[in-house]
Amino acid sequence: MYNFDKISLLYDKITTLETFGMDNYWRKYMIRDIKLDKNSKILDSGSGTGKLTDILYKKFNNCNIYAVDKSQKMMENIKNNKIIKINSDVTDTGFNDNYFDLIVSSFLIRPLKNSINDYFNEMNRILKKNKNFIIMEIYEPENKYFKLLFDIYFHIILKYFGNKITKSDSFTYFSDSVKNFHSYKYISDILINNNFKIIKIKKFLFGSIIIHYSMKLS
Ligand SMILES: C[S@@+](CC[C@H](N)C(=O)[O-])C[C@H]1O[C@@H](n2cnc3c(N)ncnc32)[C@H](O)[C@@H]1O
Repeated sequence: MYNFDKISLLYDKITTLETFGMDNYWRKYMIRDIKLDKNSKILDSGSGTGKLTDILYKKFNNCNIYAVDKSQKMMENIKNNKIIKINSDVTDTGFNDNYFDLIVSSFLIRPLKNSINDYFNEMNRILKKNKNFIIMEIYEPENKYFKLLFDIYFHIILKYFGNKITKSDSFTYFSDSVKNFHSYKYISDILINNNFKIIKIKKFLFGSIIIHYSMKLS
């Protein structure tokens, strides 16, 4: 299991390197079409250093924004005191049933690989009926030509230089976690099994970045 506490200060640089700096564009895209009433409650689950939380705050500044992460060190990077920070496991948050009007996560489900079902089950419990659950993750690309480029960049060049620059094995973890992760279709199935309806699936870079837009059914 990867220790996010250890890389909390380097995390933002690492994601920029991993995504050619496109990560914030994708995070903004995730919530681009979402409209919410004033005072709605929004959860950024697995918020990390708050990159998505900040974007939520700017767009929905009349709502209540919560950030949950089990790494205290990652969350110390969230400096905005209007964000309600909770240091907790996303599979057992302690929130009341049907509490949130929107739940999002970016790049959380890969580290959660073996407890995704528990996570979706918990998010279904705390989200209100008919409200959105939106998740974004990195996958191995579907297009075989792009996959070749992706493999050379992520699994060879980035792994080698990323580890050297950060003086860590973060990029070995990153490369292995992408290689060993589920398909997006499997993630869709777990969402459906946990009582979510898939509304839309958005793919970037030939399926290497995928956003699942879903809604709680009951
Ligand atoms: C790859 S980072 C993504 C952070 C942020 N969402 C982003 O877009 O940059 C994954 C985060 O998930 C958190 N995390 C992993 N497993 C978790 C769990 N079971 N409960 C809460 N947070 C978890 C880690 O501590 C880390 O901050």
